[in-house]
Amino acid sequence: MRSHTWWRRKTLQTSCGAWLRGRALRDLTNLLVLDITWFTESMGTGRPVTVETRHCIQEMQPLLKPCLPAPRRRTVSQYACQRRTTMENHNKIFTEAFDILVENAEFCENEGPCLAFMRATSVLKSLPGAVCHLADLQGVPCLGDQTRAVIEEILDSGVSSKVKDILSNDRYRTLKLFTSVFGVGPKTAEKWYRKGFHTFEDILADQSIHLNKMQKAGFLYYDDISKSVSKVEAEAVGRMVMDIVRSIVPNAIVVLTGGFRREKEFGHDVDFLITTPETGKEEGLLSRVMDKLKYQDILLFSDYQESTYDQSKLPNHRFEAMDHFQKCFLIVRLRDELVRGEVQRDVGDHWGWRAVRVDLVVPPFDCYAFALLGWTGSRQYERDLRRFARRERNMLLDNHGLYDKTKKLFLAAETEEDIFAHLGLEFIEPRQRNA
Ligand code: CTP
Ligand code: MN
Ligand code: MN
Repeated sequence: MRSHTWWRRKTLQTSCGAWLRGRALRDLTNLLVLDITWFTESMGTGRPVTVETRHCIQEMQPLLKPCLPAPRRRTVSQYACQRRTTMENHNKIFTEAFDILVENAEFCENEGPCLAFMRATSVLKSLPGAVCHLADLQGVPCLGDQTRAVIEEILDSGVSSKVKDILSNDRYRTLKLFTSVFGVGPKTAEKWYRKGFHTFEDILADQSIHLNKMQKAGFLYYDDISKSVSKVEAEAVGRMVMDIVRSIVPNAIVVLTGGFRREKEFGHDVDFLITTPETGKEEGLLSRVMDKLKYQDILLFSDYQESTYDQSKLPNHRFEAMDHFQKCFLIVRLRDELVRGEVQRDVGDHWGWRAVRVDLVVPPFDCYAFALLGWTGSRQYERDLRRFARRERNMLLDNHGLYDKTKKLFLAAETEEDIFAHLGLEFIEPRQRNA
């Protein structure tokens, strides 16, 4: 029922958006699209009532963004690391469609199309206005015939038939549900789907299924950790982590990374990078942090990974390999009283706290800048940084360092700015890395 209403609303929005664009109105920024309730209330009182927020169809407003300026000599780089991508996305109707196509291609292990859709959605997110006509795409890279066809269809009819098919596909819907559980990747999800499972109840009721520790925690805290974490909650987790780390090493460095460093309002977890100004002092720090979390009854789950960092084995030629730092994937208990402002809670089976996913990573100080750059993301931004380094500079970049293959040496960096300078790139602020 819910998805039916959602579809109707979506179709209404998109066809309405297409209709509005077709009117060739000069300045759409001055328009408000109102719900029928404004009309009926006005009829009721016998005069036009004042427009209030509740009368506005909120989801329509992004469609009214100004169109992209004419592509006069506009050059958009094919690399996300040479574009500035903030959270302000003028092309949501396209990027939401591409995000679904990416996910579906991942589930089907179609690497080529997956990469193509990822690059398409990323470049569209960086554009300074909405794409209203195919001609707006002149000079925009990373768009092949397939991706252009999707854009064209959405411009014409408001929806992509491909996306519509995917959203009603049983396998896609089931894999999406299963992979939403912490610890369940596409492989496991596929295995369960092949057994004929469709719901969590199917999985949990089956005696032959053995869940690992991470998946057990994933199901146990599903309601909490499938809800996004807000900025104030992330800040509260930050104070909690900082207090514990500093009680062990007073001059330790604790930095918020990941999406929240990119100034996102919500995230699926909270990521921290922890190090100490003296190299070597960071060893053993993480296990002491975990002990304290346990002692304070904050730790609900932890997957601890010992450092496998070995300078002699670098540089790593594998493009998207995991880094070798000591790290920990956690689920922690965040008490309401630590969160500033009003805490919004649904009625659940526990009161006064929520479970939050937290990642802690501890690099040695000499890798700090590289680790910070690598853990700030976004994933597409990182992918393109590495591709740019390799293809344009003959260098290898990862979370540990930067290797110049021509000069056959490592390039040191104390700050992110140093790394951009080595790569001959203009510095891009974290909030502009939401590629
Ligand atoms: N990362 C990494 N190695 C890992 C895990 C993550 O280098 N083993 C990096 C990724 O490049 C990613 C960043 O850390 O961009 C943060 O990862 P993640 O928390 O998954 O994504 P966010 O961008 O923070 O998005 P969200 O807000 O949904 O958490
Ligand atoms: Mn994150
Ligand atoms: Mn993370």
